[in-house]
Amino acid sequence: MLIRKPSDIPSSEITSKSDYMNRRQFMAGAAAVGASALGAARLVSPHQSVNADTSASAKLTTVPSPLSTAGITPTSFKDITTYNNFYEFGTDKSDPAKNAWRLKTRPWTIAIEGNVKEEKTFDIDALMKLHPIEERIYRHRCVEAWSMVIPWDGYSLSEFIKACKPLSTAKYVQFLSLEDIGEEPWIRESSLHWPYSEGLRMDEAMHPLTLLTFGLYGQTLPNQDGAPVRVVLPWKYGFKSAKSIVKIRFVENQPRTTWNESAPKEYGFYSNVNPNVDHPRWSQKTERVIGAPFWKASQPTLMFNGYGDQVASLYKGMDLRTNF
Ligand code: MTE
Repeated sequence: MLIRKPSDIPSSEITSKSDYMNRRQFMAGAAAVGASALGAARLVSPHQSVNADTSASAKLTTVPSPLSTAGITPTSFKDITTYNNFYEFGTDKSDPAKNAWRLKTRPWTIAIEGNVKEEKTFDIDALMKLHPIEERIYRHRCVEAWSMVIPWDGYSLSEFIKACKPLSTAKYVQFLSLEDIGEEPWIRESSLHWPYSEGLRMDEAMHPLTLLTFGLYGQTLPNQDGAPVRVVLPWKYGFKSAKSIVKIRFVENQPRTTWNESAPKEYGFYSNVNPNVDHPRWSQKTERVIGAPFWKASQPTLMFNGYGDQVASLYKGMDLRTNF
């Protein structure tokens, strides 16, 4: 677990961080009015580490999953939590691990909207109890041609979708991430259109491999990996996996997606891992394996990231060059 010690924090950050925590402390204090004697509100002592409040990892009780990919060794926890894409916390791969301490993951709710029997809001803690949490080791392939192997903890998104009772008019699912200038000031520096949005066709969202994810390595998600809840789609490029989700919308038409909107010729709606369709600026034939010794540092990209037996039928009859 990445806990930043005061000595790791550059002095330039200290003032802003303490100001920020004072503000949070004030807010927590206000919320404490009327809270139970057990101290339901999370008052932060000035001496307490920031992570202890905002991203303390909790151990998860998990069950093994038949959908876990056997025979592959997971990437180290350190690499998974220090080499990230999470533009709300900066554009460099090392930024999210440094900056995502600002993300406040409780209280947290997910709003369900659109073509559903009844629009409602789920609390994250209730959501985590909706179904047993499974450990699933999945290959993780980024469009930038690097890969990892991650032991995620979650359950099939389909279990949650059933609880949302979508109408037959719901053809797509849209995921919207948190957009909060206070906690994520880096969004101001980016030209992307916020909040981060991703989408799936309904049958992709209902596929048993699509994971509603709460943790990795048996612990709640570190903030930089998308706490407290994200989706994971092991046969698609990583940008389809929206992090820190606050809203799920069931819609009739293909929803806007952040990267497709920003560079439509480079990032398609489907973004299935495909060694035969290059990114306009680089090849997808091979991938760099993060954390591997140099003699294993590159490997061939697998069609659908190795999950073709399970997902190829979703795209039967489709031209995967035009629907990239
Ligand atoms: N979700 C949000 N909200 N913001 C982001 O910038 N980046 C995406 C995706 N989900 C992103 C996001 C990209 S480009 C990738 S490759 C994966 O998250 C990275 O997930 P990881 O950092 O856990 O490897």
